[in-house]
Amino acid sequence: MAEQINPWSSTPKVNIERLFEDFGIDSFEPQKEKLGELPTFMRRNVIQGHRGYDAISDAIVNKKPFHVLTGFMPSGHPHFGHLMVMKEVVWHINHGGRGFISMADREAHAVRGLSWEKCDEYAREYMSCLYALGFKGEIYSQRRNNSLKDLAFEAATKINFSNLSAIYGFGADTELAHAISVSMQVGDILYPQLAGGVAPTVVPVGIDQDPHIRLTRDVTNALRQFLVEDRGTHISIRAKTASPEAMTAVAAAFPGSKKYEGHIDLQPGHTVEEVDAVVRGIEQQFGGFGFLLPSSTYHSFLMGLQGGKMSSSVPESLVWFDDEDKDVKKKIMSALTGGRPTLDEQKKLGGEPEKCAIYQLNKFHMMDDDRELSEMCQKCKAGELMCGTCKKETLERVRAFLAEFKEKRDETAHMVEW
Ligand code: TRP
Repeated sequence: MAEQINPWSSTPKVNIERLFEDFGIDSFEPQKEKLGELPTFMRRNVIQGHRGYDAISDAIVNKKPFHVLTGFMPSGHPHFGHLMVMKEVVWHINHGGRGFISMADREAHAVRGLSWEKCDEYAREYMSCLYALGFKGEIYSQRRNNSLKDLAFEAATKINFSNLSAIYGFGADTELAHAISVSMQVGDILYPQLAGGVAPTVVPVGIDQDPHIRLTRDVTNALRQFLVEDRGTHISIRAKTASPEAMTAVAAAFPGSKKYEGHIDLQPGHTVEEVDAVVRGIEQQFGGFGFLLPSSTYHSFLMGLQGGKMSSSVPESLVWFDDEDKDVKKKIMSALTGGRPTLDEQKKLGGEPEKCAIYQLNKFHMMDDDRELSEMCQKCKAGELMCGTCKKETLERVRAFLAEFKEKRDETAHMVEW
């Protein structure tokens, strides 16, 4: 049986292939051919899996509308571990997506016990990072967004306690506010289609957030009034919760169709996509949402500087964007590498970049040029590049990045509201 993933744990499972198999996540590899020119995080396989990304790559390639949304829990300062998802959002916006960010203050308050004032303070920091990276679009706070709260309530009509215990292991001692924060996240994921029109929506996240994606896809199906089915010889439209009036409207939209008690059979010659689009429109006229299933991408996590997971509860494991230079220096210079116990051994055997936090940092964020990265990797493996030198060079890259990032945050500071 598939094990549960706990999105609130600080030590999520790392066996990604196993997880993908257990939970039916698709490999990202085939998407890369479709997209053509790729950002570093796709070229270097940082994004490893997806659900339903075909809808997004189609929209990108055919220049059709789509949305991109992710959320951040404002329960601490933003750091390097948040950079990947921010870059993914900005890339999708630059490729035609409409951007949305949820500041999950309700989740931070319910699950981490943060005060609302603290949530706002951290949220402003996240916002400034997003704008500095070129984010354009809507950033909202969960607790202040009334249409989101209404949508989350509607979503909650399709979530029961056995769903919550099966997916998250919630039990008798789980606070109601924690459960509500789950419906808020379902609301977040569907919100772009409410605010910006029905369209494919991609949610870039780490694998730990997949339970929310799965739940939201179930809720999306449950919210539909109709089910459009391809029967091979013809297309059939089943009324799930549709009213008799809505059924009549659907039958009228397809001349020659046959209307039965709970379904309508169409004459041959239609495609599922075309029929589904018409039916969604009618569903909306009759009080439904007509939402499309949201898509997601899963990126691997940046390794903590001491090995293991990057976590804000372990300060040496990560660099905060506002860290002082002396701390940045200390963290980088004392990071765990793929180096050998002695210099001699390293010269003989070469280093092991696949185990190295410094190599990972370069691969994820500090080196955009693929040739430069592979040269660094080869020199390391050949025993020509020693860890001390490599760390010093990396430190200079990190310093340059932080200085430029700070400048950009200052330039865009006026965009940060609330
Ligand atoms: N739960 C996410 C976290 O812990 C934050 C979040 C809230 C989110 N709403 C979202 C992520 C919607 C993706 C989509 O970081």
